[in-house]
Amino acid sequence: MSVTPRNVLFTIPLPGTTGTSSSIAVDMGSDTRTMPPTGLRLDGRRAIVTGAARGIGAEIARTFAAEGAHPVLLDIAADEVHALAKTLECESVVVDLADADGTAEAISESIAILGGVDILVNNAGVLKMAPILEMTIENWDLTFDINVRSMFVTTQVVGRVMRDQVAAGEPGGRIINMASMGGKLGSPNQAHYAASKSAVIAFTRVSAMEFGCYGINVNCICPGYVLTEMGAATRTPEMVAAWSAKSPLGRLAEPSDVARMALFLASDEASYCTGQAMNVSGGMVMH
Ligand SMILES: NC(=O)c1ccc[n+]([C@@H]2O[C@H](COP(=O)([O-])OP(=O)(O)OC[C@H]3O[C@@H](n4cnc5c(N)ncnc54)[C@H](O)[C@@H]3O)[C@@H](O)[C@H]2O)c1
Repeated sequence: MSVTPRNVLFTIPLPGTTGTSSSIAVDMGSDTRTMPPTGLRLDGRRAIVTGAARGIGAEIARTFAAEGAHPVLLDIAADEVHALAKTLECESVVVDLADADGTAEAISESIAILGGVDILVNNAGVLKMAPILEMTIENWDLTFDINVRSMFVTTQVVGRVMRDQVAAGEPGGRIINMASMGGKLGSPNQAHYAASKSAVIAFTRVSAMEFGCYGINVNCICPGYVLTEMGAATRTPEMVAAWSAKSPLGRLAEPSDVARMALFLASDEASYCTGQAMNVSGGMVMH
């Protein structure tokens, strides 16, 4: 029976033979099967999601809502975030995460809307590519302000509230930070981005150490190449093929691949998981 390849081909030498002439083609397919939402895994949890207007953040918001959470969506893109909030029948707050004071206010407002907070997803991030020799201080600083400093601000506000909730007898909380495989490897033109994502991984580890005693689990996610607006302006079919070939699964990620990891980390299933940097890179990174 012949196999029609849908994706990447791996040639496996047959036992006792060498060379490609004696190999078989294995269709790795594109297995993206998922379980339907149960509506229960985050039943009643109060969740704040940053960068929720589109891409990975929007998918996390949709996934959390489908599992029974009450999300508040934060983003700088007012029209888009309000539109998604309307669809999900939840609230949204417009914020520029580069503004530390404004960020603290937006998080406090979100907590007031929800009447507390059980889950914080620090998802928003930016990537403005430039080689090191051309990179401006403004680009470097903005990348760190949004990708890392905003996490410190949101974590501080939310951490205090979660700590007090636990002291009052409520269950512990979850904080999920969006890092990147760039934080473990990095690519040319992304020095600031890679450094910021390494900082996210380090910040996550220390947050987990400090917050464990309050019953707060802190983890981060390291997505690979996800098909979103980020990087879309310079994306070519050749680039997609080259990056797909880096994954043993032979494809790039969809936002839903990352959202399901966020769901796991937010759910009771991850109760003994903290301080981790979870790869969702299709095997592009394995450490
Ligand atoms: N797309 C990828 O390949 C990829 C890979 C690894 C990690 N990530 C990370 O995943 C996260 C989400 O990325 P994405 O691919 O969905 O990107 P995206 O550009 O599609 O979405 C980012 C969201 O963040 C919002 N945002 C940007 N700057 C903001 C600011 N100053 N204040 C408030 N909101 C702001 C945007 O409006 C947008 O809604 C980011 O942290 C990114 O670094 C993405």
